[in-house]
Amino acid sequence: MRVFILGATGAIGQSITLELIAHGHEIVALARSDTSEAKLVAKNISVIRGDLRAPVEWCKIIHDVDAIIHVAGTFSDDEGDVDHHLVSVLIAEAKRAEQKIRFIYTGGCWLFGETGDEIADETSEFDPLSAFYWVVENSRLVFEAPCFETMMIHPAMVYDRDGGTMSRFLSSARQAGRVEVWGSLKTRWPVVHSEDNAQAYRLVLEHGQAGQSYCVAAETGVWVGDMAAVIGQRFGLTTTPWVRDVFDVVREHGEWAFGPTLDQQIRGEKIMRTLGWPPKFTNILTEIG
Ligand SMILES: NC(=O)c1ccc[n+]([C@@H]2O[C@H](COP(=O)([O-])OP(=O)(O)OC[C@H]3O[C@@H](n4cnc5c(N)ncnc54)[C@H](OP(=O)(O)O)[C@@H]3O)[C@@H](O)[C@H]2O)c1
Repeated sequence: MRVFILGATGAIGQSITLELIAHGHEIVALARSDTSEAKLVAKNISVIRGDLRAPVEWCKIIHDVDAIIHVAGTFSDDEGDVDHHLVSVLIAEAKRAEQKIRFIYTGGCWLFGETGDEIADETSEFDPLSAFYWVVENSRLVFEAPCFETMMIHPAMVYDRDGGTMSRFLSSARQAGRVEVWGSLKTRWPVVHSEDNAQAYRLVLEHGQAGQSYCVAAETGVWVGDMAAVIGQRFGLTTTPWVRDVFDVVREHGEWAFGPTLDQQIRGEKIMRTLGWPPKFTNILTEIG
């Protein structure tokens, strides 16, 4: 398929792009800067220059593709408005398309709120953080657009040994000599390795059913305290983790910072059963240690 990717230079978009290329798909990626364009061109990826904030300037590209994957995020206070404008412009443009376009819209585990000992899945009610309520509203617009075959993916916390959701643990261990944790050691994160997440996006692109959502988690819930301890051992630290008050981090970083403090469990059973998704990385503690 010829696929247009928004966010191809991002933490989760990079591995999705490489996975699709490795499986013969042709990619066109949105790049908003010389730096992003250079990164993509270095991988022989076709680029269209443009900004999420100005979709009218580049939206005609959708007539040249079979599918759109949206994994971009501005992480700004106006992100909901930016995304609403973006999806509205894409829907208006797609009405002029000759055939339906497959569209993967990205949600995320934080839309399910705190689950505690329950395990959420695609059938669970959303309970989003206020900073992410717009994702639920905008996804409805995309699902309802008759010009798209829409699927939604909810990635768990996406990690790899040297980055993704491990980045803060790693940088604090390196720079401050102690692992920085937000909220509590007694919270759980559903997790998925970036390569497994990328494979899930490809399977949904190729075989996902329009109108469906897929939770992508290889491990339902791993204790943050265990991950912090393993990173500490990896760096030879004898210090205990620096557990920061949740309101302190929210004051510093904004409302989204409640996300990593949620005690959550999510299962990825549906995508395993219906699309044969086989996660390769099923023990984060081994992988990051
Ligand atoms: N990472 C996770 O564990 C995770 C889990 C669940 C859901 N999600 C969701 O997945 C999405 C991507 O997350 P991420 O962690 O990959 O984010 P990220 O690493 O910050 O990447 C964001 C991407 O969006 C692009 N972008 C940002 N502002 C743009 C603009 N104004 N115009 C054009 N492109 C722009 C960035 O391009 P530049 O390279 O030019 O900055 C980059 O490619 C977000 O919606 C996030 O909520 C992430």
